[in-house]
Amino acid sequence: MREPTLALTVFLLISFFVVAQATKPTPRTAYSPVPVTAAREPNPVKSTPESIAQGKKIYGYDCAQCHGTAGDGKTEVAKELKIPDLSDPAVLKDRTDGALFYILKNGHGNMPREGDRVKPEQLWDLVNYVRSLARKPPSAEPKVSN
Ligand code: HEC
Repeated sequence: MREPTLALTVFLLISFFVVAQATKPTPRTAYSPVPVTAAREPNPVKSTPESIAQGKKIYGYDCAQCHGTAGDGKTEVAKELKIPDLSDPAVLKDRTDGALFYILKNGHGNMPREGDRVKPEQLWDLVNYVRSLARKPPSAEPKVSN
């Protein structure tokens, strides 16, 4: 090549685009698929304040250490694992209740399974609670206004 500067410019331009592409934040994609039959399973437990309160209790024991009390995933664990922000309505908008139930029961990626640690009704309570996280402002604790 008689034009080394041109070659270099082209090379640098291509490198720039490759790097820019690689460092672009990847959009959230679905993880390992949830079976269709599980995703279609209707939630038999109504999202009542009682159900949400039950779910919150289990969440406090089994989930908050990773996902944070507000569900925003700002925990120590988040330094090691990529924790989704459950308080962001966009994160779970494509998940049915059945899919959430399946994910909680069987685990997902780096998330441990709840398995048979709790009864199915309690898992549905948890689903109802997780849904409620995205509806409320991030601060789950009622604040005393001053
Ligand atoms: C050890 C930390 C840890 C614990 C404990 C944990 N999770 Fe997770 N959770 C994760 C991680 C990491 C992900 C991202 C999933 C992945 O890596 O595929 C996740 C993902 C999720 C998702 C999003 C799933 C999706 O793809 O739509 C929900 C909902 C969720 N967790 C709820 C819970 C609930 C409810 C509990 C308590 C039963 C819980 N998690 C316990 C770490 C945890």
